[in-house]
Amino acid sequence: MYFPRYRLRRLRRNETLRRLVRETRLAVDDLIYPLFAVPGVSVRTPVPSMSGVFQLSVDELVQEALEAKAVGIPALLLFGIPEAKDEVGSGAYAPDGIVQRAVQEVKSRVSDLLVITDVCLCEYTSHGHCGVLQGGEVENDATLEFLARTALSHARAGADVVAPSDMMDGRVAAIRDALDENGFSQLPIMAYAAKYASGFYGPFRDAAQSTPQFGDRRSHQMDPANSDEALREIRLDIEEGADIVMVKPALAYLDVITRARLEFDLPLAAYSVSGEYAMIKAAAERGWLDEPRIMMEVLTAIKRAGADMIITYYAKDAARALNS
Ligand code: PBG
Repeated sequence: MYFPRYRLRRLRRNETLRRLVRETRLAVDDLIYPLFAVPGVSVRTPVPSMSGVFQLSVDELVQEALEAKAVGIPALLLFGIPEAKDEVGSGAYAPDGIVQRAVQEVKSRVSDLLVITDVCLCEYTSHGHCGVLQGGEVENDATLEFLARTALSHARAGADVVAPSDMMDGRVAAIRDALDENGFSQLPIMAYAAKYASGFYGPFRDAAQSTPQFGDRRSHQMDPANSDEALREIRLDIEEGADIVMVKPALAYLDVITRARLEFDLPLAAYSVSGEYAMIKAAAERGWLDEPRIMMEVLTAIKRAGADMIITYYAKDAARALNS
């Protein structure tokens, strides 16, 4: 069919027509809202590089969780900043650690809101690396036990889903075994399966105080130049027992999301990370971008690329926009 008989503009003429032929629908059901828990009471410390994001004491975090629930967000993703850090990240798996307390409080005070916990050591180690060190390097196999312990302690605190973000080889299997051996065979694992060594995590490391004291994460996070390898990472995590797989970051990796969508039939999450949020915020604060519009455009693009769910610091704003 050719012009002039066929005109693509016909179906774009008004919003009602556009609604009818729209291919991608973002929904509040797709959104996961990340929150940062810190020790103390009535603490609400703004994260300078992420306007609108705060480090929250558990009481404040519960309030935020209630607000998230009120706008229909189905799930939170919790991170913790402990009182003290050490070489082996003991705060990560302490039964009364910051995330464990936050989970307990949210689960006891807010009904029908899923609590997903980030499982990693980097916020809890004095050196800021994602595992235990040997000769200045993150030791893969020794780290697995600490990650499994962390996931299990989150499960015991009441987490609905655990989400390992460390990128050690074999960690999904290690966590699955630990959960199954301890009565949590029903607890899903959302694996940060294809997580890139990305500059887009910069603002998060302010928020979570998890910048490595030396070196970087390139020995375990993926090279941004690779996407065949992302499929290998995702395939291995699925074989090890992941229930949901993730691509992270999202915006600069839409092709990876699409490849993962075409290759696998598991639920697929995409993490629109701190730097993606900060870029939009910073430009909007200068009046250079229309923030509400860009927010929806980016989230829709991530969904269109193939993600089933999106982790985003814009979750509350996006939910409000979708509800209005
Ligand atoms: C590791 C973790 C990171 C993020 C989520 N989990 C940081 C990192 O790998 O350096 C980044 C999230 C973001 O930038 O929004 N615990």
